[in-house]
Amino acid sequence: MKICIIGSGYVGLVSGACFSDLGNTVTCVDINRETIEKLKKGIVPIYEPGLQELVVRNLKKKRLFFTTDISSSIKKSDIIFICVGTPTKNNKADLKYVFNVTKSIKSNLNRYKIIVTKSTVPVTTGDKITKILKSNKNKNKFEVVSNPEFLREGEAIRDFQFPDRVVVGTSSNKANKIMKKLYLPLIKKGGRYFHTSRRSAELIKYASNAFLATKITFINEIANLCEKSNIDVKEVAIGMGLDERIGSRFLRSGPAYGGSCFPKDTRALVSTGRMFNINLSVVKSVINSNDKRTNLLLNKISKIMNNKIKNKNITFLGVTFKPGTDDMRESSSLKMIPSLTRKGAHINYYEPTGKKNELKSKNINFFENIQDACKNADLIIIHTEWNEFKQLNFKKITKKRNFKVFDLRNLYSTSEMKKNKINYFSIGR
Ligand SMILES: NC(=O)c1ccc[n+]([C@@H]2O[C@H](COP(=O)([O-])OP(=O)(O)OC[C@H]3O[C@@H](n4cnc5c(N)ncnc54)[C@H](O)[C@@H]3O)[C@@H](O)[C@H]2O)c1
Repeated sequence: MKICIIGSGYVGLVSGACFSDLGNTVTCVDINRETIEKLKKGIVPIYEPGLQELVVRNLKKKRLFFTTDISSSIKKSDIIFICVGTPTKNNKADLKYVFNVTKSIKSNLNRYKIIVTKSTVPVTTGDKITKILKSNKNKNKFEVVSNPEFLREGEAIRDFQFPDRVVVGTSSNKANKIMKKLYLPLIKKGGRYFHTSRRSAELIKYASNAFLATKITFINEIANLCEKSNIDVKEVAIGMGLDERIGSRFLRSGPAYGGSCFPKDTRALVSTGRMFNINLSVVKSVINSNDKRTNLLLNKISKIMNNKIKNKNITFLGVTFKPGTDDMRESSSLKMIPSLTRKGAHINYYEPTGKKNELKSKNINFFENIQDACKNADLIIIHTEWNEFKQLNFKKITKKRNFKVFDLRNLYSTSEMKKNKINYFSIGR
């Protein structure tokens, strides 16, 4: 099939590369010239394991193309995937990028096409796109389908190639047949194809993300209780997770959830509720609890440091919102680090995906390796759960005698740390 992907970021690029790997001819479009120039040379501008190889392989096979020319790419394709961002604006999903793309599609509808929203968009967005595209000239020339994406950064390729489910929302049998044919290789590998209404598909994505955010927030609050009652939250999570109705995933306490999806999608869902006069009080309370979590952890840091933050060297190991990605969007480190520098701390950090533009300030220094970042640390904060932070010999990497470790990911055993006489603090234990 001839596919056009509009928006070549985390979702668009992974989807484009994976669809081309299944034998389709895919053109990925982006307005960012620099991104496209790099991609044409096989250089992937984001960090996503395995993506570079996939892009290079399909470029060589001449199944994957990159361009900034949206008009010709739309004209020559049968299926157009909208994969642009839907950031938060005034606590709602900002659909300006989606509607800009829709206008470009409208002026290039030369024959029947399926327009697919893979971007996460609120309920009724498909209706609005249809309304924009409708004209006498465009009658029967298109179908708008919702096909939300569930991939996780860091595991995006595997998630795309072996999905739990492929959700397709459309009332058109013709569009459904074409979409099923497109996904057939993944369905054959065990991915469940779920055909539903367009509005349901739109809501399935938000409801799923809000539910996962709820699970994280729930265990974070239980962790707060564990800390006060001398209980290990890890044991509670294991005990809970053994119940198949609950399941063990997303029951790991840590910092506030962040990333490009949960914070914005929970806010957008509340706003959709408001649109229909429905009070989504559980989701509201999740957002509220998560917003407060960073302050709660900052207070704990103050306590660990006996309220002496000024002139202390604090090292962050990892600053991205999770391992396996370079994505900094809404990472809790972006609130924690500036707050600590305001209190006079000197921040050093090491991050496997490199220096971050978001953390440019005179009291924040990036180091190329763990040792250099930790050398003078009074406090080491394990912020992100990268594998390379899981077996550190803290006494070897720091020169300071009275250093402390605050492990936001519970990577180490409290008894081991006690045995090794390391001043170790963690979450919910
Ligand atoms: N990142 C994830 O893990 C993830 C997972 C599932 C769903 N989603 C959803 O997918 C959507 C995209 O997310 P992302 O993380 O890939 O965003 P992103 O910011 O990485 O990529 C969006 C791309 O769209 C491009 N763009 C904007 N306007 C354009 C236009 N008019 N024409 C062509 N390109 C244009 C931007 O330059 C950018 O490269 C969002 O709605 C998001 O919620 C993201």
